[in-house]
Amino acid sequence: MKKLKIGIVGCGAIGCSLAKVVARDLKSEAALCALYDIDESKALRLSELTVKNISCGFDTLISRSDLVIEAASAKCSWMVARKALEKGRDVMIMSVGGVLDHAKELSRLASKQKARVYIPSGAISGVDALKASGVGKISKVMITTRKHPLSFQGVEYLKNKGVRPEKIRQDTVLFSGPAKDAVKYFPQNINVAAVLSLAGIGSSKTQVRIIASPLVKRNIHEIEIVSDAGRVFTRTENVLHPDNPKTSYLAVLSAIATLKAIVRPVSIGT
Ligand SMILES: NC(=O)c1ccc[n+]([C@@H]2O[C@H](COP(=O)([O-])OP(=O)(O)OC[C@H]3O[C@@H](n4cnc5c(N)ncnc54)[C@H](O)[C@@H]3O)[C@@H](O)[C@H]2O)c1
Repeated sequence: MKKLKIGIVGCGAIGCSLAKVVARDLKSEAALCALYDIDESKALRLSELTVKNISCGFDTLISRSDLVIEAASAKCSWMVARKALEKGRDVMIMSVGGVLDHAKELSRLASKQKARVYIPSGAISGVDALKASGVGKISKVMITTRKHPLSFQGVEYLKNKGVRPEKIRQDTVLFSGPAKDAVKYFPQNINVAAVLSLAGIGSSKTQVRIIASPLVKRNIHEIEIVSDAGRVFTRTENVLHPDNPKTSYLAVLSAIATLKAIVRPVSIGT
């Protein structure tokens, strides 16, 4: 069987983990063929650790790859997806917040080019049930995120409201509203709200609550889905990635699981 040629844009916590898995565990099904990072030293270092001499420019990465994995930044994820799809490449997107406003174009372009777009569930559980519920009628999707107050340091929206995270001593609701506003005001919460919106009822109807909680040590996401099929409630307590404390370890594992589902013949789950 022909091996799937994989190129990775962004060689940080997620990109490094994915590259190592492709090079080590998926050798018989896939080949790591290109690495690109805006900081070239990171791509060079990762190439040394995985497959030699595959650090390259962005355009070369697209031309070499069957599947382009974006693991860089919400600022560039739409551009990466668009350029990959225009060349007929499949694409996996990690910085999901960056494509939220381009969902229709993403789908139109992929279908025109007969290419596929993969968006892993990331740091949340319940996306399988959300997709299945959406085949019927969904009346409510709500995510409540709890993080330690210090996770919110530097958030412009809070500064403008005069909220000082380091002074928070008890559970405090920092935001309650639609996902489309949550992703604007809380960029570090952008991916979970974006995945949930895209998989379910969109960013205007998906509700988000963000709570600063001094007692929590992990990032906790609770999701409630109410539909014709009943009520689903999930709670995910995320361990943080050792190389990037802004990234949940589960998000990396979710990307690896998505990759395995692409290259392996049996697919389990919704
Ligand atoms: N879907 C999810 O659930 C989920 C969860 C965690 C993180 N993420 C997102 O995935 C992305 C990667 O996360 P990470 O933890 O690996 O981050 P990271 O900061 O560890 O690594 C990002 C890498 O991308 C590089 N980069 C930045 N802009 C670039 C550009 N324009 N072109 C090429 N390279 C660029 C950086 O130099 C860095 O090496 C982030 O956008 C993050 O928000 C998604």
